[in-house]
Amino acid sequence: MALDDFLASLDSLADEAQKAFVTAGTADALEEVRIAFLGAKGGQLKEVQKGLGKVDKADKPAAGKRFNEVKTLVEAAFEKAQEQLESGAAANQDAFDVTLPGRAVRIGHLHPITQTIREMKDIMGRLGFTAVEGPEIEDDWHNFESLNIPLSHPARDPLDNFYLACASGANGEADSPLLLRSQTSTVQIRVMESTPPPVRIISLGRVYRPDTADATHYPMFHQIEGLLVDRGVTMADLKSVLRLFCQSYFGGHEEVHVRFRPSFFPFTEPSVEVDMNWQGGWMEMGGAGMVDPNVLRAVGYDPEEVTGFAFGLGVERICMRQHGITDIRALYQNDVRFLEQF
Ligand code: PHE
Repeated sequence: MALDDFLASLDSLADEAQKAFVTAGTADALEEVRIAFLGAKGGQLKEVQKGLGKVDKADKPAAGKRFNEVKTLVEAAFEKAQEQLESGAAANQDAFDVTLPGRAVRIGHLHPITQTIREMKDIMGRLGFTAVEGPEIEDDWHNFESLNIPLSHPARDPLDNFYLACASGANGEADSPLLLRSQTSTVQIRVMESTPPPVRIISLGRVYRPDTADATHYPMFHQIEGLLVDRGVTMADLKSVLRLFCQSYFGGHEEVHVRFRPSFFPFTEPSVEVDMNWQGGWMEMGGAGMVDPNVLRAVGYDPEEVTGFAFGLGVERICMRQHGITDIRALYQNDVRFLEQF
């Protein structure tokens, strides 16, 4: 075979291959072209290589040299085409696809306890109760004394309360210790001290007791306290208000019943534990009773003129039952994955 013919066939192959690589628009098409030109079996380059054996012996070095050049050229053309395809694909991925659904913006929401508190305020507001607040740091008088809890009462035990180290009252008396309130009943006293009857209030807030945290205890929790004082208030009023409250909070279409069990609190007489029927059983809600005449007297009310009822319910317990939460600690670990569900 004449050297010129061999070189001519190499040149035309190089031309064709370069054009084919440039026009291959997809990875599959490019692979087809690669096999057609560079394939180990039957590829055009292989075919042309066969001609190399037939070239005159004297021309072989020149023919071989050119063959290698063309081979490198074709391979480079393939690699270039491949790179271009890949970078084109990457560029497409970055492109903005207007048909995709948008990404939802994460917005915060209220803590389940806050939601419960708001709902309770709402319900009691519709029943004519005004929400009031009181301080979380209290003195002996409001947390105990005025509530008919004398100094000798075990409820005042330092082990059962968070007394503050500064331990002196507003006027600096050493014998009037301060503490984190252990109940919201303190707010009853503050309201009655500053308002003549009738009163119709609720108070919702934090209370503190040195309990070890477990599934049902936490050293800080919330209570909803209710107080109604007026002429002729009876236990029947207490029960119907509590029943209406439970019905509105939990009831839906099911009828709710409230049950009283005899109990004791120093500031109510008689005193009861309040339960409501819940999924075939009874659920404890908290304590209640008729305001003790001693308490009315302590705030300057006349127990011969007015009577009243009071109740104090656990907010966490109610919130947990509503949502099926079984461990109170989950409410305060502030794990967003948990809180986000409510
Ligand atoms: N203060 C009581 C408690 O913390 C609850 C209660 C409030 C009971 C009002 C009677 C009346 O357990």
